[in-house]
Amino acid sequence: MSFWQSLTRPIIGMAPMDGVTDATFRHTVAMHGKPDVSFTEFTHVHDVCRGPEFLLDSLIYHEAERPIVAQLYGKEPDLFYQAAHAVCELGFDGLDINMGCPSRSVASSGSGAGLIRTPDVAHEIMRAARQGIADWASGQTLEGAGLKPGRVEAIQRMNEQRQDARTLVRQTIPLSVKTRLGYDVVVIDQWIEHLLMEQPAVISLHGRTLQQMYRGEADWNAIARAAKIVRGSGTLLFGNGDVHSYHDVVRRVRDTGVDGVLVGRAALGAPWFFRQKEEARLVLQQHRSEEGPEPWLPTLDDRFEVLLDHARRFEAACGQGQFRRMRKHLGWYCKGFPHAASLRASMFRVSSIADLERVLADFRIHSASLTEVSDQMQLEPLISAEPSPAL
Ligand SMILES: Cc1cc2nc3c(=O)[nH]c(=O)nc-3n(C[C@H](O)[C@H](O)[C@H](O)COP(=O)(O)O)c2cc1C
Repeated sequence: MSFWQSLTRPIIGMAPMDGVTDATFRHTVAMHGKPDVSFTEFTHVHDVCRGPEFLLDSLIYHEAERPIVAQLYGKEPDLFYQAAHAVCELGFDGLDINMGCPSRSVASSGSGAGLIRTPDVAHEIMRAARQGIADWASGQTLEGAGLKPGRVEAIQRMNEQRQDARTLVRQTIPLSVKTRLGYDVVVIDQWIEHLLMEQPAVISLHGRTLQQMYRGEADWNAIARAAKIVRGSGTLLFGNGDVHSYHDVVRRVRDTGVDGVLVGRAALGAPWFFRQKEEARLVLQQHRSEEGPEPWLPTLDDRFEVLLDHARRFEAACGQGQFRRMRKHLGWYCKGFPHAASLRASMFRVSSIADLERVLADFRIHSASLTEVSDQMQLEPLISAEPSPAL
């Protein structure tokens, strides 16, 4: 039985987001409201097998994130075979193949969502990845699979550097796929049939075509159709796209019968998003009529504490020289409270934890005085609305 089968349904996972759901963000999420499953950012199979070593950074993870699934993309079956060995050797719980990335550079070369137009290649790479997993589980070494000694050493170093790394057991890990409804038109009925031939453990379906990119609304009717086709096949179907809240989680699961949902952008600047997953599950399991839990909103102090925790984790992992990469996250934390926009603007100038602490301390002082001023401004019209005693 794969780990997927042991998770309680509906499974509520965090969607992979390149440049966002890196190891430090996922670790922060795991500490403040763990999703049922997380995925790494996508990594090209060529980079896993032969690219410069720093490109393996996207496969760093922390034990606290388990179950954690490595997502790969590409189109060469041989590289999927080798990369599957690397993913197994790194101790991941699963391997996911990206068949949904719409970016021009990825899809036009035939990878990502480009695979929807070449089902034969999609079949081949799924088989190659599965064979790689099976051969690794049967004892094949990474060198035996064709990886160079330098790459094998790099992978061993990553395992040594992972805190509390669990002992590696040579067993097969499940293969899954994340995809879209089609390339330029919705072809999900035929596409799902293709994918099912390879019996992936999970198909995660973003309810848009490649051509839509992120425009318009995710089509959950098409996701419902896919869920119906998949039912009884042994494969799980996850819906994805525009899930902003637990009301959305409950509504989508109820209306479509999906086995789970993946949440992406709603977790930006909100690593606590997943803390309400059990409450939502209870509403569904007990067939209660309510819409699901209201959003949990942290106090300003809690928000700043999580933000600092995330930033410290980032600086410890990547060094101060990289701190500017943290700025977008800092900006995302600044929403939904008075004067958030002014704090957000300051966040785009911070270059270290020390800067960040200073900005937060200044904000506390200034926001208190700004609140006083705006309270007065609200009172002023009332005062001036009174007839002047001079008239
Ligand atoms: C910045 C960004 C990066 C993404 N990177 C990936 C990726 O590496 N792999 C993948 O399968 N999907 C990727 N996606 C797509 C998301 O996983 C998800 O399908 C999409 O955002 C829709 O879900 P949402 O509405 O909950 O955000 C990315 C999305 C965004 C916004």
